[in-house]
Amino acid sequence: MSDPIDIRGRSLYSVDQFSVSSAFADDLSGILISGGEVGSRVDRMREEMERYYGTDSRNLLVMPVMKGAYQFCSGLVYDPRFRLPFEIENIESSRYGESGSSSENKPKIHIATPERIRGKDVLIVEDIIDQGPTLEYVASVVKSYEPSSMSLAVLLDKPERRLPGSKVSDYFVRTFTGFIIPNLFVVGYGLDFKERYRSLQHIAVLKPEMYS
Ligand code: IMP
Ligand code: MG
Repeated sequence: MSDPIDIRGRSLYSVDQFSVSSAFADDLSGILISGGEVGSRVDRMREEMERYYGTDSRNLLVMPVMKGAYQFCSGLVYDPRFRLPFEIENIESSRYGESGSSSENKPKIHIATPERIRGKDVLIVEDIIDQGPTLEYVASVVKSYEPSSMSLAVLLDKPERRLPGSKVSDYFVRTFTGFIIPNLFVVGYGLDFKERYRSLQHIAVLKPEMYS
């Protein structure tokens, strides 16, 4: 399996070096990962998942953590090159409140038909691991419904933000990670700030004044 791409030492691309929707361009201080790079990495992750599960796998349950993982999950598995049959069951999750900032509240999750998890090879699909509690909580709930195995596909990881003692990685027999990124708040490719920027095709950093 390929290592995640560690881009922590890399500087931002300037916004005018890529095609960016005029709805978003003025709000961004730079582009961390271009849409093309994201797409190619997602292609590679899909190939690795196919090899891992084997094309005769019949037991895969894909569980995207909504809404952030919506686009990443579509790119991974709603692609004609992905040959594995799978079922899908969304996980609705929220940790960040209306304010858009991290709160002390526990994550809340909802799974419409959790009884489908039992005995399945579950693949949780998540946009980003930041401090860790959201995914740790999601994983503990999914595990309680007794899947046969539980793996993770995560596009972005910010390991420097992890809370001390986080056990999030212990839940998964296999983890497919796209990029390791620096300690920056990012938007695009499904990730939002106050529900905006999800449809931006690059992973980008907002201008500091957008947060105030
Ligand atoms: P954690 O519990 O701190 O790991 O929070 C993870 C969740 O917070 C993710 O699933 C995202 O929804 C959100 N999040 C964390 N970092 C970012 C970011 O840089 N941009 C957008 N959303 C983020
Ligand atoms: Mg998320």
